[in-house]
Amino acid sequence: FWLEAAKAIDWSTPPQKAFDPTAGPYGRWFPGAVGNTCHNAIDRHVANGRGPQPAIRYDSPVTDTQRTLTYSDLLAEVQACAATLQDLGIRKGDRVLIYMPMIPEALIGMFACARLGAVHSVVFGGFAAPELATRIDDATPSVILSASCGIEPSRTVAYKPLLDDAIARATHKPGACIILQRPQLEAAMTPGRDHDWTTLRAQNLGRPVPCVPVAATDPLYILYTSGTTGRPKGVVRDTGGHMVALMWSMENLFGFAPGETFWCASDVGWVVGHTYIVYAPLLAGCTTVLYEGKPVGTPDAGAFWRVIQDNHVKILLTAPTAMRAIRKQDPEAALLKKYDLSSLKALFLAGERADPETLHWAERILGVPVIDHWWQTETGWPIAGNPIGLGILPIKAGSPTAPLPGWALEVFDAEGRPAPRGTMGTLAIKLPLPPGALPTLWHADQRFHDTYLSDFPGYYTTADAGYIDADGYPFVMGRTDDVINVAGHRISTGALEEVVALHPSVAECAVIGVADTLKGELPCAFVILKDGAPTTDVPAEIIRLVRDTIGPVAALNRVLVVGRLPKTRSGKILRATMKRIAQNEPYTAPPTIEDPAALDEITQAVK
Ligand code: COA
Ligand code: AMP
Repeated sequence: FWLEAAKAIDWSTPPQKAFDPTAGPYGRWFPGAVGNTCHNAIDRHVANGRGPQPAIRYDSPVTDTQRTLTYSDLLAEVQACAATLQDLGIRKGDRVLIYMPMIPEALIGMFACARLGAVHSVVFGGFAAPELATRIDDATPSVILSASCGIEPSRTVAYKPLLDDAIARATHKPGACIILQRPQLEAAMTPGRDHDWTTLRAQNLGRPVPCVPVAATDPLYILYTSGTTGRPKGVVRDTGGHMVALMWSMENLFGFAPGETFWCASDVGWVVGHTYIVYAPLLAGCTTVLYEGKPVGTPDAGAFWRVIQDNHVKILLTAPTAMRAIRKQDPEAALLKKYDLSSLKALFLAGERADPETLHWAERILGVPVIDHWWQTETGWPIAGNPIGLGILPIKAGSPTAPLPGWALEVFDAEGRPAPRGTMGTLAIKLPLPPGALPTLWHADQRFHDTYLSDFPGYYTTADAGYIDADGYPFVMGRTDDVINVAGHRISTGALEEVVALHPSVAECAVIGVADTLKGELPCAFVILKDGAPTTDVPAEIIRLVRDTIGPVAALNRVLVVGRLPKTRSGKILRATMKRIAQNEPYTAPPTIEDPAALDEITQAVK
């Protein structure tokens, strides 16, 4: 099956064999094959006559800019950037970190790395300097690409001071930084280290840089995602499997043909953005919309409908939270009537559970199929979805429909036994994972094995809880670990606890995710203060500490001071019970509880 799918890719050495079960932690896809992702996403389309077709439609309400880059324009820009990187010594296998807002240069940088066989690691702009520093130390990039600022509706985010701070904190120091000065904010440059993007681009435009052939098993990128501690996991994506899986998904999952326009309203710092803003649409010869804005506030709750109309978008992919944000401001979607949405054929939702209410609302206002699909940073593309390119399956609200090829799903109960249909348990995938999924973690095979492969031998654990119904539809209900989903962003409560505990007045703490009607979940911290510690201002200081250490995207805005935390007699904090209390749900105190009165204190605090 996958060798057949691999024929959609231009290889310099085509694969003779689909899978090598002896390599890597669980095997590797397309051993011996050689190719280049940039060639497949850009050069071959130009060679096949798509040069004048728009490749990127940059739509930025926050800067009042619309800009189109054709495939020919993109090829020229990517070569100029690749030449710049080459001059700075970047070669195959070297790492380049990209810390940029949603602007074409972020994509140009990613493709320039792919062209050279260098490995990029994009870090989301909403992370603070210490988070960026841990990624710099793990990926050890030789060069960092960044910009002077990002633009949020409420403020201009100065990226450069965050980058400087991160480099100062990191043990590893990059040799060079290339900084795009945006007109909204001029960044101070560090002489000898920092280079001006625009100057180097002008010098290098027109220099041809050939694509470097790389093995299908060579890494294309590293993308960090939350672990259970403050140390993020470097998810590795390989070259060959990624191209093959994405090409398959564009035609069969999304029903896309070359020349059509795809819009994924995510961010290039997330896996959804890597896959469906950057690589998949361009591998398939489509046009991608790069949107620097929000669902609401830029300028209003009609922004998405305007972008669909202006760019003739065939499919919009976004997070349910974006739909909830629109619905909150414009419940009857009155603004939608201002726009022509006839190009839109489906809405795809991912990143968090698509709650049936939001799904039905979107179906009603848009009049097109609304498709939930389930995936993770690790999996690289959806585990389950409704493959509309093959013929749409009946939709069941609350389920992402069906496992896609290569994803053999199983549910395990608490004792590690396969659970019968309809029974909740942990969702796991039988090995091997299909092409496009992570082969390992960056320089951490053992951690990969321990994290994902050790719970259920022969299976990858998704750490998602759910069940499969009698018709084979999976239902994904939440995480089995301490990861929470805040506005479609994956945040670890364990990592938040580590930061909250750093506050000098905090003796002990617990952070839980609490259901939120807009963002799905929001973190809530419970803290016990040290005897004699000043009590005033501590919650505000903790909120500031989390913003400065993890980033504003963690959205911790609720810190409650309590006298004790409910625990079992063995000392385990009863987080699940606390969550039920915070969500105003009925609960029963577990028999192992040490001090039932501690629960009353939680009840009082959340009131
Ligand atoms: N750079 C710097 N800061 C950023 C940022 C970025 N790229 N992205 C977000 N932030 C900041 C925001 O400014 C905000 O800061 P604030 O607390 O000072 O206001 C904070 O991080 C939280 O941002 P966000 O989660 O975007 O919340 P919001 O309240 O600004 O907007 C939504 C709410 C629902 C509109 C927004 O979350 C959204 O569009 N979600 C879609 C989710 C998505 O695309 N997920 C990706 C997976 S598919
Ligand atoms: P991320 O790695 O940031 O993409 O987050 C992955 C996690 O988001 C998954 O493990 C799920 O918990 C959640 N998730 C993503 N898509 C869905 C979905 N369609 N339904 C339910 N949960 C989802």
